[in-house]
Amino acid sequence: MAGGDRERWDARHRAVEQAGPAAGPMPPDALRGREHLVPGGGRALDVACGRGSVAVWLAARGFTVDAVDVSEVALAGGADLAERRGVGDRVRWWAHDLDAGLPAACTGPYDAVVCQRFRDPALYPVLAGLLAPSGLLVLTVLSEVDDAPGVFRARPGELADAFGGLSVLDHRERDGEANLVARAAEVRR
Ligand SMILES: C[S@@+](CC[C@H](N)C(=O)[O-])C[C@H]1O[C@@H](n2cnc3c(N)ncnc32)[C@H](O)[C@@H]1O
Repeated sequence: MAGGDRERWDARHRAVEQAGPAAGPMPPDALRGREHLVPGGGRALDVACGRGSVAVWLAARGFTVDAVDVSEVALAGGADLAERRGVGDRVRWWAHDLDAGLPAACTGPYDAVVCQRFRDPALYPVLAGLLAPSGLLVLTVLSEVDDAPGVFRARPGELADAFGGLSVLDHRERDGEANLVARAAEVRR
């Protein structure tokens, strides 16, 4: 991560915190209305979890969650939300720069892996490889589709190409966003 980026993220999260009460637990955007696709529990990973609204939602559904983000400010907000919702013991918060890959302790296998509004194509094979048999992958990234090209945006078809080895349940690209919901095979090869 480039120098100063961590501080910039901390400042952004602090500004959101000061602007009003934390968002409550929320399902990942790509799953809204289709929450039934999420397994009934197990282990989950939330990559670039921000202030933890998805991680806490997963914990409230019975998962034990590894939640990773570079911002200590964001993680403190997530830990506070988890405590207030009575699931503080079900989330492990990892302050970690994902440019170096995932924390060594986040080895999986995971029954659900979520990554929302953070894009690092180098992590795509890692995330797919961490899924348990039948594990669910839920991704949302910024996209060039219906928007301008940019280094932080997925090119058209990027998610479908990267995760073609999984069973793709839903893939949408529009309005500058790409969403993918996919499931690992019942038996991992
Ligand atoms: C747009 S926010 C999305 C947060 C959350 N997933 C959500 O949907 O609300 C992007 C998150 O990625 C984190 N982040 C950015 N670069 C990172 C890095 N190199 N390693 C770990 N986290 C990073 C930021 O702190 C921020 O919380």
